[in-house]
Amino acid sequence: MKIAVLPGDGIGPEVTAEAVAVLECLALPGLALSEGDVGGAAYHRHGHPLPDETLTMAREADAILFGAVGDPTCDALERHLRPEQAILGLRKHLGLFANLRPARVFAGLEHLSPLRPDIAAGLDMLIVRELTGDVYFGAKGQRTNDAGEREGWDAMSYATSDVRRSAPVALSAAASSGLPLTSVDKANVLETSQLWRDVVIEVAAGYPDVALDHMYVDNAAMQVVSHPERFGVVLTGNLFGDILSDLASACVGSIGLLPSASLGERQTAFGTFGLYEPIHGSAPDIAGEGKANPMATILSAAMMLRHSFGMEAAAARIEGAVGRALADGILGGDLGGTHGTAAIGAAVRARL
Ligand code: NAD
Ligand code: IPM
Ligand code: MN
Repeated sequence: MKIAVLPGDGIGPEVTAEAVAVLECLALPGLALSEGDVGGAAYHRHGHPLPDETLTMAREADAILFGAVGDPTCDALERHLRPEQAILGLRKHLGLFANLRPARVFAGLEHLSPLRPDIAAGLDMLIVRELTGDVYFGAKGQRTNDAGEREGWDAMSYATSDVRRSAPVALSAAASSGLPLTSVDKANVLETSQLWRDVVIEVAAGYPDVALDHMYVDNAAMQVVSHPERFGVVLTGNLFGDILSDLASACVGSIGLLPSASLGERQTAFGTFGLYEPIHGSAPDIAGEGKANPMATILSAAMMLRHSFGMEAAAARIEGAVGRALADGILGGDLGGTHGTAAIGAAVRARL
């Protein structure tokens, strides 16, 4: 069971180290980890944020554990050389079109949320974010417009096939959990969203037991913080999913708590091939200080064991240990506590 570990930039290596230590602590037989360069770290070492050898390592692995990319010293580079292109490139090259971002307030941990506890208690949603299309991957550029002004432009589009393969991921999750499905779009303004909505309705006809509704993204943002209990599974496009998942993480308590799984169609001998990463970035403001909360990455490793290796019991053990650490007051600065990255990692391992 080959795992490519790609720590990346900023707090990426700090949080990834704790997730790797959790995996080692479980001493699961058959796991083989190897590490590769990605992001700004790879650019500085090899001149490219996603070197060929890293892409090859990722392709040959059964799963990828990813930290974060992003380096302020690279922000002025041509776009194709910027660290963020590494994660976008991995998602695209590896066909990882479905991004699962579960956001849940653990029972008894409502006080970690900035929402009123009675509202926070209702937050338990799975965001299914389309990950390889939308305005992220359309043509883009800068030009001089007719008025002689500099103008930036990005083409937003979805093809029917993009929606046809993503919608079943959310519909199946809703069907198996009995939760309602909300498809989030901006069909009142965008043709991309009208196509999205039409195809979601068409695909959902094959799932008659799923309660499906549609919501505009502005309303959805408002409802997430006012009535989170209205959401079960949320299906949305790449851009809206990016924004709504950061919003949901803040409602849980911190972006340092939200894991993700990026999946495609490829099956390995052990499960579904996937890339697992926290939803947060490289956090340059706290990088190198040992302050980052590694829980999102540790929980991403749990998702990896579940989806890529069929190890449900081990995944649940990790999630239980994180929940107990939080309940015991093991809180990073992001949650108003004083525990550092290493102390949080050790506390989780002690509870495994
Ligand atoms: P960010 O998620 O890195 O940080 C946002 C805020 O949350 C910061 O104040 C940061 O300190 C805090 N934070 C994030 N993770 C934390 C953790 N684990 N523990 C405690 N605090 C945490 O977002 P940003 O500042 O907008 O972006 C920084 C860089 O990361 C940019 O280059 C961006 O492009 C990149 N980025 C990468 C990914 C990824 O690799 N998948 C995701 C998001 C952002
Ligand atoms: C995320 C990040 C990425 C995204 C960036 C770094 C390209 O914000 O994984 O949420 O927008 O998808
Ligand atoms: Mn994001």
